[in-house]
Amino acid sequence: MTLLDVQNLTIAYHTTGGPVVAVDDISFSLEKGRSMGIVGESGCGKTTIGMSLLGLLPENGYVRGGQILFDGKDLLGLSRKELQAFRWKKISMIFQAAMNALNPVQRVGDQIAEAIRIHNPELSEPRIREQVAELYDLVDIPGTRIHDYPHQYSGGMKQRAVIAMALSCHPDLIIADEPTTALDVIVQAQILHKIKEIQERLGIAAIFISHDIGVVAEVCHDIAVMYAGKIIEYGQREEVFVSPVHPYTSMLLSSYLTIDGVFDLHAETVDHVCTFSSERLPGTCGYADSCPYADDLCASEQPGWREISPTHKALCRKACW
Ligand SMILES: Nc1ncnc2c1ncn2[C@@H]1O[C@H](COP(=O)(O)OP(=O)(O)O)[C@@H](O)[C@H]1O
Ligand SMILES: [Mg+2]
Repeated sequence: MTLLDVQNLTIAYHTTGGPVVAVDDISFSLEKGRSMGIVGESGCGKTTIGMSLLGLLPENGYVRGGQILFDGKDLLGLSRKELQAFRWKKISMIFQAAMNALNPVQRVGDQIAEAIRIHNPELSEPRIREQVAELYDLVDIPGTRIHDYPHQYSGGMKQRAVIAMALSCHPDLIIADEPTTALDVIVQAQILHKIKEIQERLGIAAIFISHDIGVVAEVCHDIAVMYAGKIIEYGQREEVFVSPVHPYTSMLLSSYLTIDGVFDLHAETVDHVCTFSSERLPGTCGYADSCPYADDLCASEQPGWREISPTHKALCRKACW
């Protein structure tokens, strides 16, 4: 059953240089309990999508067009108050760099208790404490650490605490924005598998956002590859990783091929910065300038979607398979 249905979503930011389109006509849907990865280099629009789903775009950001349906409800039509009631209880987000935003002078357990209290004012204090303990158990932090301060936690534990906070209102969808970027490789894998395990155990849908294709390869059912504000390839994990058809996806994946041709999911990545959103000419392929296969038409014509299978498609004239 479809939980989230995003259609033709376009988001722009007002800037002193005029409006900048950060997310350009994207569509995708997510079934209940399923996980999806959004991958692409810095600046391609990933966080903007996540924030729009929570109704938390910055003040200068605005939805220019499209539709976000969650459980059949039009999120863009909700009032601020309705959205507040919705946020965290239905959709919650692990923000980029959230673990560094834990309050350093408040005990971690108290911060999680506060999150529960704010959204569930009807709960008694003993019940809130019980829920904090349950959440610690869920994310595998020993209960003895509930009264510690953030500086007493390792990076991995801080990130687990942030995950616990995001789960505190039992959401149907959790969005994890670069959940492992600040962690070392071994801890990255542990955290990813922890989120995936919890998500599957509780039947929560998940969107993993990362610049690192290895991260989404490891944990997601479906993958959306983004470039310059657009989804340029979309498919099931095996389709995108085993048979990518967009030249940009192939380029991203080539950094993960080892000598035996096996994906090295933990390879170091260079986080390229995407600078195309404001410069791209309308009606051209945003990747044409960098694409080894581009011809004159690519630079003058907007590509359409090419369907490779009922679940796999690419926005490219040259997509080959
Ligand atoms: N508050 C803002 N004001 C203006 N431009 C912004 C703002 N936030 C993001 N952008 C621009 O929108 C684009 C997408 O940003 P973002 O969604 O943060 O990308 P990502 O998460 O993929 O790195 C970038 O070009 C970025 O510079
Ligand atoms: Mg981001």
